[in-house]
Formats: sequence, C-alpha cells, structure tokens
Amino acid sequence: MSLVLSVSFARGQHAIDLSISDNTGPIINKNIYGQFAEHLGRCVYDGLFRNGKIREDVVAALKRIKIPLLRWPGGCFADDYHWKNGVGPVKLRPKAVNTMWGMVEEDNSFGTDEFLKLCEKIGCDPYLAANVGTGTPAEMESWVEYCNYDGTSSMSQLRKTNGHEQPYKVRFWGIGNESWGCGGRMTPETYVEHYKTFANYCRTYPGAPVERIASGANADDYNWTEYLMSHISSRWMQGIGVHYYTDAGGREQKDATDFGEDKYFLALKNALNMENIVRAHEAIMDRYDPAKKVALIIDEWGIVIGDENPPNYFFQQNSLRDALIAASTLNIFNNHADRIRMANLAQITNVLQSLILTSGDTMVSTPTYHVFDLYKVHQDAKLLPVSFISPDYSFGGNKLPAVNVSASKDSTGAVHISLVNIDPVNKQVINMPLSALPSKDITGQILTSPKFTDHNTFINREKVKLAVFNAFRKDRDILNIELPAKSVVVLELK
Ligand code: AHR
Repeated sequence: MSLVLSVSFARGQHAIDLSISDNTGPIINKNIYGQFAEHLGRCVYDGLFRNGKIREDVVAALKRIKIPLLRWPGGCFADDYHWKNGVGPVKLRPKAVNTMWGMVEEDNSFGTDEFLKLCEKIGCDPYLAANVGTGTPAEMESWVEYCNYDGTSSMSQLRKTNGHEQPYKVRFWGIGNESWGCGGRMTPETYVEHYKTFANYCRTYPGAPVERIASGANADDYNWTEYLMSHISSRWMQGIGVHYYTDAGGREQKDATDFGEDKYFLALKNALNMENIVRAHEAIMDRYDPAKKVALIIDEWGIVIGDENPPNYFFQQNSLRDALIAASTLNIFNNHADRIRMANLAQITNVLQSLILTSGDTMVSTPTYHVFDLYKVHQDAKLLPVSFISPDYSFGGNKLPAVNVSASKDSTGAVHISLVNIDPVNKQVINMPLSALPSKDITGQILTSPKFTDHNTFINREKVKLAVFNAFRKDRDILNIELPAKSVVVLELK
C-alpha cells in the first residue's frame, strides 16, 4: 500500500539524520513497563480497592495498556508491614497504624490474597517487597511458603483455607526497601549482612523459582552498588533495585500544572539525568558481573511534586511535561535493555506520577498513561540500535538534547520507533533511511497538546490524548518525519 501524505516540510530547517540498524540487540524485558503500588494516601485504598472491592474500571484500563508487573506493598510501608495481619477473614484481621504515611489506620482489608487477585485480574506478575526493617527471616520465609508451596504445610494449608488451592508462584521478591533510609537506616555493611540471611530463607519451592532483588542505591550512591556487587554473589542476588526520582523544583499542588519554562527545563534536565545514573551503576556492575546475570532494576522512578504530608499524601496532577519525562525515561530503559530488566513507575494510582487518578467511583487517565499505551509495543521486542546526533534544546544559557529515540522489532517483524521532542517551541525534521527496515505499511500515533502544562481532569478528561500521526512521507528509501514541539510519536513500520 502506498502512503498518501499531505505534509509540507519547513524549508531551511536542518534535518536530523537518523539511522536504525536491523542488527537486533537484547530483548526489551516487558517488566521495564512495571508499576508500583503502596499503602500511601489513596493509592491502594480508593485507587485500586474501594468499598472492599477491587476496582474493575481501573483493572480494565490497566489491562488495556498491558501492565506486565506490579510491586507491592511498598515502599517505606513494606518495612513495617506484617503480612499475616492481612490474610484470612477480613473482619478478624487486626488493625494496625501506618507509621510511615500519616499514622492513619491500616485495617488490613487489602492483603496478600487481594493483591494477588488484583494481579490475576490485570494479567500481570506480582513483585512482593518483604519486610527487613522490622521483620524477620522467618516472617519472610513463611510468606514465600504461603504464596509458593504446593505441598502440605501449615502455610500452604492457610492459603488453601483462605480460598487459594494452587500456589501463586510469585517469582519476584524484594528484600527490604530503601534500607539506607526509611527501611532501617543501614550502612551497606549492615544491609549486606541482613540481606544474606533473608535471601537464604527466601526459598525456591518445587516449580516456583524466585528472583531475589536487593534494596539498591539511592540515586547516585555508587558506593552502595559497589559494596553489594562485591559482597553478594549472583547466585543469591538476581537484581538490584535503584531508586531515582525526578525533582520538579516545586512541592505544592499548583506546581504540577502551573509552571513556566524554567521549571519545565529543570524537570527535564533532572529526568534525563537517569542516563548518567544508569551508566554509572552499569559500569560498576559490569566489572563484577560481565555476563550481566544481575539485573539493574529501577524499582521506583517518576517526577515528584506532591507534598507527602496529610491531606495530600503525594497526590499530584500529571501534565504533558510528565508524559515527556515518562517517554524519555522509557527510551533510556529500552536502550539499556541488556542490563535493565525491570522498572516500576511510582505510583500506579493517585500518588506521584500516576497512570490513573480517581475521585469516588470515577477515574481519569493521565498523559503518562497514554505514554505507556503508546510504548506497550516495545514489551518483549528486540532492541534495535539507533544512531543520530540530537540538536540542542536551549534555555537560559543551558542545553539539553532535544530529541531522544528508541526502536524495537517485535515477534511479527514489525518495527516500532518511539521519538520524543522535548523542545517546547521548535519542531524537528528527521530523515531516516528505510533500506534496512520494513516499509510497506507505516502508521503513527502522537501525544501532544498546545501547552506543556496541559492535563486531564474529571471535567475535561481528554485534553491530552493520543491522535493519529501522519506528518511523515516516504521519498524513495528515505522517511521524512516532522516531529512537533513537545511531542511523543510512535511509528509502526510493517
Ligand atoms: O514512593 C514514595 C516513597 O518514596 C516510597 O515509599 C519510598 O520507597 C520512596 O522514598
């Protein structure tokens, strides 16, 4: 089929020469598109679970974008969570206090079985974060047994009594969370000692292999990674969970939707710093583990604006800027797929950079949700190397690369290219040779909006939404693409 296009390209604009090789690289692990849910504010209670029931509207929305993985119950909450309080008849479950987030009552009505039911409904894998700060190895051991043991034991019997005959076979187990901070204020030396004992009791039951994920560094604390890699063997540690948040330069509600280009630039600069953080951790890991057996996991990431204190609890609106941050970050993760095999956006609903905001029984999809929708085509596809030199996006005498890209080939041979232009004013013209790529059918989708502060509300739900993108044309074996200012585009080539 030939393409009929009506694009008129700007004259005189210097075009970017971009080439994509068909030498496929590593698989982009679908778990890079993972999410995170914590007992914090309205994330779990209200966002995912309301009036004692799992929210079917939210489940349907998450299924649509193929969420592959969900991490729970924290976050800082995990190191004060005792899983046995959250199983069995709801009325008999003890009440607890959420000491991390606002000292609110935790009635434990959403516990292990409810979480695993939620994952089953979404069709995603669970990732449980075990309590190292105030828990014991025995507590973790019994949790793994409850979830994963198929034979006869007190824990497997308890699971069956609670209504789940078959083992859940939970594969991913986090051993502590931010153990350098809210999870116990440990030194790397203390943490490694704890880790070894907990990892030992995180058992592999027949037919239910586990992957043990260590609590990793706070952002650029490279010494933490160095110490873990030099003291724990890959037999006992399958991943290291680094946390890196984007500082938006503001902490009030208004900062989420009312900001100028200075804050826009700062947030994008901080977000793109993920590339440096990832490279530096990878360089350390490569020295100890050149075979890349241990995964680099970014198990908390996203832009932070909201205030953590009541009544806000990190609730924040989500703008086109945040979508550009998500898209650029996911391009970084895709391009490092040989080492990054999981990442979890913080957090899935109503907290920080959410996919979904809820109010009572209604929900709205954020611009970030649309990025995950656009990028789902990369899940488990093979990475394709991209080369180009980005023009600068300049502001106040400082510069950032205006364009970032990743590409992959899926199991059907279709190629997907995700292109981001963070420049809020200037479009970019791209020339791309098609010789190595399929090009019979080329289609595209775009996410953009007139202002980078644009966002979706319960009144105007579709202010920022996906649209068909057709600002490209085939000129013999060159594809010319006109990438609008502040936009995310995904092209499909078949
Ligand atoms: O996502 C909110 C909090 O940020 C998490 O509980 C913690 O791990 C991090 O500091």
